[in-house]
Amino acid sequence: MAQRVQGTEDLYGGYMRAWQRMQDVARETFGVYGFSMIETPAIEQVATFVHGIGESTDVVRKEMFRVFSGALVESLLAKGSEEGLKAKQRLALRPEGTAGVVRAAVQNNLVPQGSAPAKLWYAGPMFRGERPQKGRLRQFHQVGVEWLGASDPASDAECIVMLMQFFERLGFDADSLRLTINSMGDAACRPAYREQVRSFILDHADQMCDDCLERAELNPLRAFDCKNPHCAEVMADAPLVPDHLCDECAAHYAQVKRYLDEAGVRYEEDPTLVRGLDYYTRTVFEVEVAGAGVGAIGGGGRYDGLMELEGGKPTPGLGFAVGFERIVLALQTQGVDLGASEEGCVYVACTPDVRASVFGTVLALRNAGVRTESDCQGRSLKSQFKQADKVGARLCVVLGTDEVAAGVATLRDMHTHEQEQVELSALAAIVAERMR
Ligand code: HAM
Repeated sequence: MAQRVQGTEDLYGGYMRAWQRMQDVARETFGVYGFSMIETPAIEQVATFVHGIGESTDVVRKEMFRVFSGALVESLLAKGSEEGLKAKQRLALRPEGTAGVVRAAVQNNLVPQGSAPAKLWYAGPMFRGERPQKGRLRQFHQVGVEWLGASDPASDAECIVMLMQFFERLGFDADSLRLTINSMGDAACRPAYREQVRSFILDHADQMCDDCLERAELNPLRAFDCKNPHCAEVMADAPLVPDHLCDECAAHYAQVKRYLDEAGVRYEEDPTLVRGLDYYTRTVFEVEVAGAGVGAIGGGGRYDGLMELEGGKPTPGLGFAVGFERIVLALQTQGVDLGASEEGCVYVACTPDVRASVFGTVLALRNAGVRTESDCQGRSLKSQFKQADKVGARLCVVLGTDEVAAGVATLRDMHTHEQEQVELSALAAIVAERMR
């Protein structure tokens, strides 16, 4: 039997309904804030991710799936290296959505100078070559937003308020959501802070793991996320970014917190929250669900330098993304089935001799906008009733010899089991009314 690729999933049935429901809630929630949808390709030039996400990040160094056309693979195998390939030949599956959306905004001039900000949201598969485990896949699905051209701290707060509303509308118990925030500083204050962390790690080199020693040179702030308990113990005394913010960044962070307080959003400040992507400046945030054991269900932040890194004019920006698969798992721990079927249907059952009458009845019901099912396998009346239960029918229309001769149908309520006779000519209108 052909096998699915490890760390990927098939979406169908209730799982697919959950993915669609998540997009519906996103459309409704983000629409109120003025966001419209964008779709960018799942495949981009490697340079788009290297510029944006950062060359030293795990996502770019270790997790990006590279894509080469068949002809290129042969020439690569023959040459043994990628040297000499043009930028347009070096492709990757997107590990996240932000870099591609910003690339699209630059290329299509979506934020012309002096214009209103671009407010965009997206939904789609992302790809990371991570070790698959619960809530960690190689192809997973994100819903995300990118808000380009907004510099005011109010936009950071609005973004976070919108994210928390989105989670609550999906069905999360608001008290279980743990929002953490931090400020990462900007181009003015972060380089000096980064250097301090680098020196700190090197001063404690004998107590740190090899990965952290490598991080000290490449990306020292990532050492805050090291899972090694010795490193965590050392890093507990490392300098913290909020103590090293420049005046502008400190004022921005303070104002974001004031707005969050005004909106009644509960948050915890985590001065070690650094996120795994290099483009962040100033505000960063993450959301976890208490007791769910799936890690962050969403995260994001501000990235005021990213448009420039992707070749555009200096334009502030911010956004977030949430992980569909983790959200479904986390909701399950709270007894919420995001893919529960909401709309019932009508089942048209018949005795074998009047099977031909079912066609027209089903047609009339569907023309009236009613979701209708019927048997197409020649089942007995008894197993048609079982089938009606199985597909979650709320009403069952029963056609028998006498009914068809008299121009009526029996309408049976599947919950109360009450039955009544209805004129066939009025059936569609009556059923449509009941199903509303
Ligand atoms: P991220 O934190 O890397 O941020 O991913 C966002 C969410 O995607 C995570 O919180 C998690 O729920 C989900 N996720 C990430 N990796 C996996 C995986 N391997 N398997 C399952 N779920 C996963 C970003 O991607 C940024 N682009 C967010 C952003 C948008 N920042 C600004 N704008």
